[in-house]
Amino acid sequence: PLVLHVTSEIYPFSKTGGLADVLGALPPTLARKGVDVAVVTPFYGRLATGGYPIHLLHSDVPVGFPWPPITAEVYSAEYQGVPVYFIGRGEYFDRRFYYNTHKGDYFDNCERFVFFCRAALEWCKYLDRPPAIVHAHDWQAAMTVAYLHFWRQMDPFWKDVKTVLTIHNLAFQGRYSSRLFWESGLPTDAWNMDGAEFWGDFNMLKAGIAYADSVTTVSPSYALEIQTPEFGCGLDGILRHRSERLTGIINGADYDVWDPSSDKFLPHVYDSANMKGKRICKEHLLREYCMDPVVAQRPLLGFIGRLRRQKGIDLLIEILPALMKIGVGVVVLGEGNLEFEAQLMELMERYPGRLAARIGYTEELAHYIQAGTDIFLMPSRYEPCGLTQMYSLRFGTVPVASSVGGLRDTIVPHPRFGSTGFTFTAGDPSSFLRSIMEALAIWEKPGVWNRIRSRAMQASFSWEDSARGYMDVYRELGVSMPDA
Ligand code: ADP
Ligand code: GLC
Repeated sequence: PLVLHVTSEIYPFSKTGGLADVLGALPPTLARKGVDVAVVTPFYGRLATGGYPIHLLHSDVPVGFPWPPITAEVYSAEYQGVPVYFIGRGEYFDRRFYYNTHKGDYFDNCERFVFFCRAALEWCKYLDRPPAIVHAHDWQAAMTVAYLHFWRQMDPFWKDVKTVLTIHNLAFQGRYSSRLFWESGLPTDAWNMDGAEFWGDFNMLKAGIAYADSVTTVSPSYALEIQTPEFGCGLDGILRHRSERLTGIINGADYDVWDPSSDKFLPHVYDSANMKGKRICKEHLLREYCMDPVVAQRPLLGFIGRLRRQKGIDLLIEILPALMKIGVGVVVLGEGNLEFEAQLMELMERYPGRLAARIGYTEELAHYIQAGTDIFLMPSRYEPCGLTQMYSLRFGTVPVASSVGGLRDTIVPHPRFGSTGFTFTAGDPSSFLRSIMEALAIWEKPGVWNRIRSRAMQASFSWEDSARGYMDVYRELGVSMPDA
């Protein structure tokens, strides 16, 4: 039985965050376990090929949306044993960014992703077998699930299809004016509180949650959190309503890409038995960023992530002056909110040689910083799963993270037995600073520190385990899966 993943990002072809990493790893792992799996994703203008050849398969698949209807191009690539189909339509996807510019979201995002969802489903009719499961990721793909709920009652082709929706971030919902609902082609039946309607607006993620046969999210803690008003982003009610069909499956880390013993981006590789390479990476990083020699004697702190409130970058900015007083160095890599970018630039001028902030997005630097720093900062206000802390654990860069969502599920906080890092109360800057101070104090005791660090490096979040979790979800829907 074919499992078709629908996603707006997939590494190494497109990426703005962890969603891409998940799609770059989960389908290949399922394929290795003998699952028949394929992926559908947009053909962005700035698509990276990752060295994989991409062919045009079809130049005009009729989509039936918008009105009057237009067609899509479909391209394909073979990625680690998984066919990836790319939906092309120049005026929708051939843009500098995927979803937004610094000025805000593209005005036609609703139309773009409704088109994508419709095209993804139309494309299925060209495959030699209909999907047994359509597995949609986040709001951009959620409408596939909503259409299928209605189509399978009318169209024999879709009669037996089952649907799964995975929520990677509940804060992004694809919420638009009701007018767009009427253009989307969902039947009037879907326009109510238990369907696509949300306070008078059209909400695409909500439609997915309402109509999916199974809803999953990316950690057990986040699965519980989103059923509360505090983390539910207004959808906690419908999530509680669907709680019997809601599971949290923790993501894995792709250790083929994120492992310091084989990392091709690093000046020197290392592992827990031989940490010399990590010192060399740190020296390189300090030199490249022209850091003051005095900070070389102290732990170097790193932050990598989208510069948004979710990631708590404002909390880091708030405590930076205090950190500078203690005399540690801080390296930041990220892009996002203009205001945070400007504040970081200003601080960098104030603390030359102490704070190095790079605004931008480079895969290579992310690896470089993971390897060259001693402590990884992740002060997220909420975190559905979080992958960067998993990478930092493997890189022996001990995390100081807030105690929410996937961070809770992946870091064992000091002084608990078997600790691998430090955690603090989310959203509280003084608690964050205290936690860093605690880590610095432990760093002064190399025996204890090294034990924490080597346990961190041994921690393993395998895609094998997550893939098994998803296969269980598929099985519960009555779709047979290999026993692997
Ligand atoms: P999220 O998906 O919420 O952004 P995750 O921790 O799940 O957070 O995944 C983030 C991914 O994006 C990681 O692979 C991380 O290395 C990468 N990343 C984030 N910001 C940058 C950046 N500025 N440069 C390079 N990689 C980045
Ligand atoms: C989202 C979340 C992040 C998660 C990623 C992959 O971007 O913010 O926590 O790791 O999706 O599931």
